[in-house]
Amino acid sequence: MSIYSFPDRGPWGDSKYRGNCSGHVYKELYEQLKPGSVCDPMMGSGTSIEVAQEMNIKAFGLDLRLGFDILRESIVERIGQEVELCLSHPAYGGQIKFSGEVWGDPHPSDLSRCKDDNDFHEKLHIAMLNQRTATVPGGIYGAILGDWRRNGKYTSYQAELIARMPSDELAAVLIKAQHNTTSARRSYGAMRFPFISHEYVLLFQKPKKVLSMLTDLASMARQQSTRLTSTWKAIVRSVLMGLGGSASLSEIYAKVAEHAPDRLAANPSWQAKVRQTLNSNLDCFAPVDRGVWKLAA
Ligand SMILES: C[S@@+](CC[C@H](N)C(=O)[O-])C[C@H]1O[C@@H](n2cnc3c(N)ncnc32)[C@H](O)[C@@H]1O
Repeated sequence: MSIYSFPDRGPWGDSKYRGNCSGHVYKELYEQLKPGSVCDPMMGSGTSIEVAQEMNIKAFGLDLRLGFDILRESIVERIGQEVELCLSHPAYGGQIKFSGEVWGDPHPSDLSRCKDDNDFHEKLHIAMLNQRTATVPGGIYGAILGDWRRNGKYTSYQAELIARMPSDELAAVLIKAQHNTTSARRSYGAMRFPFISHEYVLLFQKPKKVLSMLTDLASMARQQSTRLTSTWKAIVRSVLMGLGGSASLSEIYAKVAEHAPDRLAANPSWQAKVRQTLNSNLDCFAPVDRGVWKLAA
C-alpha cells in the first residue's frame, strides 16, 4: 500500500508534542520493511521508538532536544552501530519552531529555524547523508516530510531532497494523509489551490556494496552535474525555440536572462555556461556564422 491514512495516532509517543506523527505509520512501515534495528535521529516525543520497542525491534532515538545535533555529530558514532532502518521526521518549513517554543531556548542547528528554504535544503541533505552513513549496506534510510505553500509560493521539500540524493537509491515514495493539523482548521475559502493535507514518506536503499565515502560522493557530484548540464541544455533549447529556431548569442543571452530560473541566473558565469552548453551539445545546436546559432536538424 503506498497511501497511508490514519486519523487515529494510536497510544505511542505524545499527542501533545507539536508535529508528532501517528504511530500507525511507523507500525505499517516496520511490518512492511521488517527491520531488525531502527534509528530515529529526530525522534521528537518518541513515537517511532515506542512502536519499535513494542514490536521487539532494537531502537535508538536521538533529538536535538536531548543534546544530539544531526548537523554536527555522526549518528553511527553516537549509537555505536549501523541500523537496518534510519528514518527521520524532520522539522520543516518553520510552521512549528521546536527549540524555543516546544522545548528549551532557540538553537542555531534547529531545522525548524533555518534562515530560508535553501538553508533548509542544504541542512536536510547533510542530515540525510548522516542517516545514510548510519545505515547498513542494503538497509533503508529516509524521511517523512511534506511540502509547503507560503505567501503563494510552493516549496517542495521532498522534491528538493530527492534531487540531492543518489537517484539510483530512491526506493519508494509513499503518501501520508495528514489529520488534525492546526493549519487544516484555519479557513482557506479564498485559496485557489487545494490546501496541502499530505506528507511523503521517502525511502532510499543504501547499496549492498558500498565502495567508499569518496567514491559515493564523487558519484553523487557527477549526478548533480549531469542534472545541471541537462537543465542548461533544456533552457537554451527552449530559448532558441522561442526565438524561431535561430538567433545570435546576444539574443540568446537576453532571453536566458529573462527566463532562466533565479538560481541559474544567479551564477555569475552564466554567459560562459550558455556558450559551453551550445558548444558541447552539437547534436542539438548548430553554429551558423558570426555568433549565430540554430537548432540542429
Ligand atoms: C516533527 S518533530 C518529530 C516528531 C516525532 N515524529 C513524534 O512523533 O513526536 C522533529 C524533531 O526534530 C528535532 N530536530 C530539529 N533539528 C534537529 C537537529 N539539528 N538534530 C536533531 N534533531 C533535530 C526537533 O527537536 C523535533 O523534536
